[in-house]
Amino acid sequence: MNEQQKELSLQANQPKAEKDYSRYFQRPSINSARKRSREQAHVHRDFVIEQSIKNIGKGKKYLIQTYGCQMNEHDSEAIIGIAEELGYSKAESQEEADLIILNTCAIRENAENRVFGELGRLKRLKRTNPDLILGVCGCMSQEEKVVNQIMEKYQYVDLVFGTHNIYRLPEYIHNALMGKERVIEVWSQEGEIIENMPRTRQGSIKAWVNIMYGCDEFCTYCIVPYTRGKERSRLPEDIIAEIQHLAAEGYQEVTLLGQNVNAYGKDFKDREYTFGDLLNDLNKIDVPRIRFTTSHPRDFDEKTIAALAKRGNLVEHIHLPVQSGNNEVLKRMNRKYTREMYLQLVRDLKAAIPGVSITTDIIVGFPGETEEQFQDTLSLVEEVGYEGAFTFIFSPREGTPAARMEDNVSEADKKDRLNRLNEAINRGFRAGNKRFEGQIVDVLVEGTSKNDDTMLAGYTRHNKLVNFKGDASKIGQIVNVKITEAKTWHLAGEMVNDDTTN
Ligand code: SAH
Ligand code: SF4
Ligand code: F3S
Repeated sequence: MNEQQKELSLQANQPKAEKDYSRYFQRPSINSARKRSREQAHVHRDFVIEQSIKNIGKGKKYLIQTYGCQMNEHDSEAIIGIAEELGYSKAESQEEADLIILNTCAIRENAENRVFGELGRLKRLKRTNPDLILGVCGCMSQEEKVVNQIMEKYQYVDLVFGTHNIYRLPEYIHNALMGKERVIEVWSQEGEIIENMPRTRQGSIKAWVNIMYGCDEFCTYCIVPYTRGKERSRLPEDIIAEIQHLAAEGYQEVTLLGQNVNAYGKDFKDREYTFGDLLNDLNKIDVPRIRFTTSHPRDFDEKTIAALAKRGNLVEHIHLPVQSGNNEVLKRMNRKYTREMYLQLVRDLKAAIPGVSITTDIIVGFPGETEEQFQDTLSLVEEVGYEGAFTFIFSPREGTPAARMEDNVSEADKKDRLNRLNEAINRGFRAGNKRFEGQIVDVLVEGTSKNDDTMLAGYTRHNKLVNFKGDASKIGQIVNVKITEAKTWHLAGEMVNDDTTN
């Protein structure tokens, strides 16, 4: 426990801290979550599950339901790892589960509504199975408002923990089981980096690897810096060892995860080692493909571009969120770059990595966005030639600066802008697919097509989905496919020979 956590714990013991909520009671606070210390995060390698509780899940079943981004999916792999170490095995349905944990996302209101809807439906199971332990974790549980809401309206939730204390889960489950009382423990400030948590990876072809945690950007609309804490980079030697291990196990693709991977290493006090250095080192590892998400344009430096230009296992796809094409809006979003800087970066990337595919994230209807400012976004979309995008209507997040800005764009205008933007993005997507017609590409085969098991499905280095006829024995391999036709949402092709290219 650090000082701030101790302080919170003391607060929690004060009279307002409802006595029926046990000693495990610690609510998050957005004011604490905003704070940033200058210290480099400590790395711990001493995670252990006490022998006495190792079998508490024996004969019982878990179900982890994950919402949100890849970071959350990857956190769930640790939660599953812990549940399995406690003896739990996987449940095939909610009905057969003894432990259900919702790993939640707070990025937009509709993400939260989905979770509350699910919690409402789960009440019925608590009635039929009173021994069920129901837990909520992830980004929503880092929000004060959400924890209060759960305490008031969803009193049948047994366990609430946050993004910073997943490693304490064995103890929380134990106490929820033994004490038959609610365990609510959310830390507002980031914990340490725990290197040796168990993880059960959910795939054997592609793997996620965290390179950093947290975010210090504070884009004015975004809740993530509050829910994930300060930027903390993992040590390069730990990342490299993990990826070497994945390569030895036969993984074909690794995705490096961070909210702002381009800021990797900036928190190190004892060394000069940034994202470009990491890519250069990973480029030497014998794993066929390395991707990363997400990039922040402001921190995308020359060393990183030079590393990507080497290609090899570094693929020709970059997800580069722009959010808006208008300088005034970008400023109010606190994105710290201009349209011109962004376009220059795109030109540099295209020059260094010929044929690179660029995708993005865009928000429409940011408070005060005018039609003219939205037009700047549309023209930027045309100019960059994005080959895909995640597009969103602005959703106010309590505690963030943008939630306090006057939201003067009508619902109808927001929807209309989203539609027009999506049309432009879809045109780019189709053009991006079309350019591969007639070409032979490398496809990492991930499985059979959903509708037809003689058809294989996989992705190219540019992250294009390809469907083609082939044998299931090719799953997990990289094969050569000639693209015959660009369809609306995928590429159709034919396998050209039986040689795998890796
Ligand atoms: N760290 C990443 C991803 C953050 S969340 C990045 O910086 O790009 C993914 C996307 O959700 C963001 O890029 C943004 O487009 C969108 N988003 C975040 N907060 C939002 C909000 N309050 N309303 C609407 N969209 C939002
Ligand atoms: Fe949110 Fe901005 Fe950080 Fe991305 S970079 S997580 S959008 S604050
Ligand atoms: Fe959602 Fe948290 Fe990811 S808010 S997008 S799950 S970092």
